Amino acid sequence: MAEVNLLRSLPRTKRNIDARSAAKDPAVVAIANEFGAEDWDGDRKYGYGGYRYDGRWRSVARDMTAHFGLKPGMRVLDVGCGKGFLVKDFMIECPGLEAFGLDISLYAIEHAEPEVAGRLRLGNATSLPFPDASFDAVVSINTIHNLERPGVIRALREIERLAPGRAFVQVDAYHTPEQRELFLRWVLTAKFHDYPSGWLGVFEEAGYTGDWSWTVLER
Ligand SMILES: C[S@@+](CC[C@H](N)C(=O)[O-])C[C@H]1O[C@@H](n2cnc3c(N)ncnc32)[C@H](O)[C@@H]1O
Repeated sequence: MAEVNLLRSLPRTKRNIDARSAAKDPAVVAIANEFGAEDWDGDRKYGYGGYRYDGRWRSVARDMTAHFGLKPGMRVLDVGCGKGFLVKDFMIECPGLEAFGLDISLYAIEHAEPEVAGRLRLGNATSLPFPDASFDAVVSINTIHNLERPGVIRALREIERLAPGRAFVQVDAYHTPEQRELFLRWVLTAKFHDYPSGWLGVFEEAGYTGDWSWTVLER
């Protein structure tokens, strides 16, 4: 169980926090929380502002494969897989790896990459439809913080159940009051977020023994 930055190879995303904050109102937040077409491919005020495959997750898949010692024939699950970009890149980086995804967004699954057809399930992180210890690794990036605290605990227990001690979660956090303020101006969908010490308490309460990293907004 350790903090490890498995997303270190991603390019830094430029975020216009002032524009997001100015456009944010209850109607915008409600639409963003539907995780539908507007969130993925609508105006930036609702979310991604157009999210298309560009291969940027390949290096992340490579680092995750090395971190967990994944080999052809092993099984990996991405909880909150969206359109399946990471699932696709796991299969490119480690041919023969059995990669799967699960997401709550019907729109994302219906607009997934063709290469992952049949590998993505519609579902909720709080109730993963797979047997105990059925994966060699489970990863979940910027997803479980979209639940309230009890849901986060349930999701962590589910992830732990599928791959005891062999998981990675990345979640929204902040180290300083300034970073927290910035985050609150930006956030649309996260319902539980905290300082690392708070998150570590949640991990302990859930009995989560996998690895983790933080998404921290900075100017
Ligand atoms: C910020 S996106 C991250 C997508 C992808 N993991 C990435 O990093 O590009 C959050 C994802 O979590 C999904 N999501 C939100 N709540 C969820 C839940 N309770 N169970 C499963 N997926 C959920 C959304 O549909 C969306 O795909």
